Amino acid sequence: DTGKSGYEHYMLKEIHEQPTALRQTLSGRVNEQAGTVELEDLDGLAGREPAGVQLVACGTSYHAALYGARMLREQGIPATATIASEYALERPPVADQLVVGVTQSGETADTLSALRTAAQRGAETVAVTNVVGSTAARECDHALYIRAGPEIGVAATKTFSSQLVTLRLLTEHLTNGTTDGIHDRLATLRALPGALQEVLDETQAPAVAEEYVGADGYFFIGRGYNYPVSLEGALKFKEITYEHAEGFPAGELKHGTLALVTNETPVIATVTGNDEAARKTVGNVKEVEARDAPVIAVTDGQTDVARYADHVLEIPDSHPTTAPILANTQLQLFAYHMANELGRAIDKPRNLAKSVTVE
Ligand code: G6P
Repeated sequence: DTGKSGYEHYMLKEIHEQPTALRQTLSGRVNEQAGTVELEDLDGLAGREPAGVQLVACGTSYHAALYGARMLREQGIPATATIASEYALERPPVADQLVVGVTQSGETADTLSALRTAAQRGAETVAVTNVVGSTAARECDHALYIRAGPEIGVAATKTFSSQLVTLRLLTEHLTNGTTDGIHDRLATLRALPGALQEVLDETQAPAVAEEYVGADGYFFIGRGYNYPVSLEGALKFKEITYEHAEGFPAGELKHGTLALVTNETPVIATVTGNDEAARKTVGNVKEVEARDAPVIAVTDGQTDVARYADHVLEIPDSHPTTAPILANTQLQLFAYHMANELGRAIDKPRNLAKSVTVE
């Protein structure tokens, strides 16, 4: 079904398709009882842990790559995420590295170029992609499909969520049987589509977006896994609202951008769980609140961030690695409803293309 099924825009429809997309991403790949992840797409790689993983990507897919690299490192595999157009110029050493191109279309010229330079120098390559038979899928040694289904809106939504989950599966696959906490992580993946549905059903985003139309600028902050989510929140917001937005790690706020913070610059803080990253982000929220900036907290309520916020976009309790996917859904909806208030061309923003085939 490629019609809008009653939704005003493809983007909104695709945001709402995320629970289904994630079920497809997970289908048949997780053996909860054994505590393993099986990825047929990667036959031949199984059981061989690479010395390191280099992820290359552009745009939204780069944000997914940042999240994936963090997850791999957390589970003991050295990993980097690099903007594909920079990787292709820099040509880092690839001995014993698995080079993973994250590209929903499989056709982004910069990403193909990065993958080709890595392959020429002998790297084993994987395409994490949505499109069967795409150039990246054909050229790489392995194609790992995210199975999100067709995405029409130029602004990537369900493909981003499916990329995050696929990178979680890749991480588990590469470390099968060797890491603690696997049962918790797999159980939380199973619960994720339902939790995401809850976010969609109960979101406060339309009213909150309406409240902040026409501000001077919008800052998205978060730490840890919520750092890439904040980058993605700001990118999505810029793409479809044409308003200025910036996303960055919350700790960097005081190193410059704080100079721009006023009562006309809403700060959207993503704070999930109650770990060090969350507690430190609450500290940053207090700093902007003291400068009269309106604060919108995207949170599961495990810290007291709501005390310092003007509005809250709630998400259900989840695992540290899946909470950002739920938080990101609130940011997608916030951007969507703001763009709708502003009457923007949501499905086909000016100057942007779904897939960019020039370098
Ligand atoms: C274009 C799209 C972005 C996308 C980027 C990478 O710029 O407008 O939404 O994130 O390309 O696309 P890919 O297909 O490689 O994930």
